[in-house]
Amino acid sequence: MLLGVNIDHVATLRNARGGVEPEPVKAADICEQNGATSITTHLREDRRHIKDEDVYTLIKTIKTKLNLEMAMADDIQRIALEIKPHSVCLVPEKRQEITTEGGLDVAGQLDKVTEFIKPLLDAGIVVSLFIDPEKSQVEAAAKSGAQFIEMHTGAYSEAFGKENEEEEFLKLKNAARLAQTFGLRVNAGHGLNYENVHRMHEIPGLYELNIGHSIISRAVFTGLPEAVRKMAELIK
Ligand code: PXP
Repeated sequence: MLLGVNIDHVATLRNARGGVEPEPVKAADICEQNGATSITTHLREDRRHIKDEDVYTLIKTIKTKLNLEMAMADDIQRIALEIKPHSVCLVPEKRQEITTEGGLDVAGQLDKVTEFIKPLLDAGIVVSLFIDPEKSQVEAAAKSGAQFIEMHTGAYSEAFGKENEEEEFLKLKNAARLAQTFGLRVNAGHGLNYENVHRMHEIPGLYELNIGHSIISRAVFTGLPEAVRKMAELIK
């Protein structure tokens, strides 16, 4: 399994003082040097962490792959088509949410999703859809033309160590299997940390995990190189 590190929190910290430190570009470089195989950033509609300048710089400096998380917004689509990241991951976005809550409802808006991703696919950008591990969402994702799904692991992470852990874990395992039967490749992420990540090894064929909060939190105490190295070691 590969490790994509989400560096949004570095930008959040930078923005807290309105200056330039800590620099997301530098964080991306350290992550890459310590085992990250891609760098993920979410260009939110309100630009609360990553800003346009960040993605324009990151696309030039990243040596691995830039994975741009984005909502189905025309202005962000324009930026994606301009910078051409390796991949985009479509996420739902609500203004007041602290982080991405729930997966994208692909089943409920299949035509809209299909139409939105077409120019991205035509431009050679790999498209991933961030969805809940549900049959209807996987089936819709398969029809949309996207090459990847990213399974939302938030419910599993919440349930970890509790009585519903198995139930939530099985949803991920079954959704991954179904997606693979449709020829989709499968990533996962949200809420994964140093304790709960090991069960991702029980899901055959998982391609990449996208992890942010737990790595940046650990890095506060141990430094970013150690935090990324340790996570890369756990999922290798
Ligand atoms: N994947 C997606 C699609 C996300 O929106 C996020 C959160 O920004 C993550 C992965 C990473 O989640 P976490 O910060 O909880 O590791």
